[in-house]
Amino acid sequence: MSLTENTPLESLDEWEDDVQARYPEPEKPFTPHKDKAEFRDYENTTRPTVREFYRINHKFQTYDFVKQKKQEYGGLDHKQMSIWEAMEFLNTLVDDSDPDTSLSQIQHLMQTSEAIRADGHPRWFVLTGLVHDLGKILCLFGEPQWAVVGDTFPVGCKFSDKIVFPQFFADNPDVENGAYNTENGVYESGCGLDKIEMSWGHDEYMYMVAKDCLPEPALYMIRYHSFYAAHREGEYQHLMTDHDREMFKWVRAFNPYDLYSKSPTPPDVKALRPYYEDLIAEYFPAQVAW
Ligand SMILES: [Fe+2]
Ligand SMILES: [Fe+2]
Repeated sequence: MSLTENTPLESLDEWEDDVQARYPEPEKPFTPHKDKAEFRDYENTTRPTVREFYRINHKFQTYDFVKQKKQEYGGLDHKQMSIWEAMEFLNTLVDDSDPDTSLSQIQHLMQTSEAIRADGHPRWFVLTGLVHDLGKILCLFGEPQWAVVGDTFPVGCKFSDKIVFPQFFADNPDVENGAYNTENGVYESGCGLDKIEMSWGHDEYMYMVAKDCLPEPALYMIRYHSFYAAHREGEYQHLMTDHDREMFKWVRAFNPYDLYSKSPTPPDVKALRPYYEDLIAEYFPAQVAW
């Protein structure tokens, strides 16, 4: 177990396993998922690595940090590669997880997309499943785990107490800043999520990469798939537009495939590759800017 500030998690998947433990069943939207006792129970049983991960994530994800990262990556000038190359690039991510029991990153992506395909959803939806986590290549650009994965949340306004481990925000310097401490913070009521700065990670980065290639519901799924405080807890309604709420139906439709699509047999990447190469070519150029 490595309890360092940059890599508290043994693998990136450890965070997702924890989300699944927190939300064991697909649920109806806006149903508070746990009563107080259950929530305490979750906090007490969370692995020390994951707990430490949330602690530093909540401490360092500030409004200024987000602005700086959006600036740094928004130009998409880090790398040129195809979607498939990005999948293979992500596969080179080595972590401390057990290689005998864990799936490769590509297999993880394909489990999600194959589950979506099996349910007969449109082709862009299947593709969204395939690419939604490719932003995790941020790790390979040297970003620490806390700036790549984790539940996402708005910065620049009051942190919801429905965000996992809200007590850790006490160490975030933004709570000392009066401008960021009200319900709306630096935003206007009902301004829409597009105007909101979200904590930085693989979701926002992949949204930037895919912005001109995929239909709007797909972009919402990608951009907000880790925004559990909104899509599972119903928080931050005051910053949304009716259009955001409409689009969140898609975000919620996507979530079960993200969290619960683990199949007993790992997908056969080689056999599936031709299907996915065709699908990728329908929406993305041969070279994508990252
Ligand atoms: Fe993700
Ligand atoms: Fe995912």
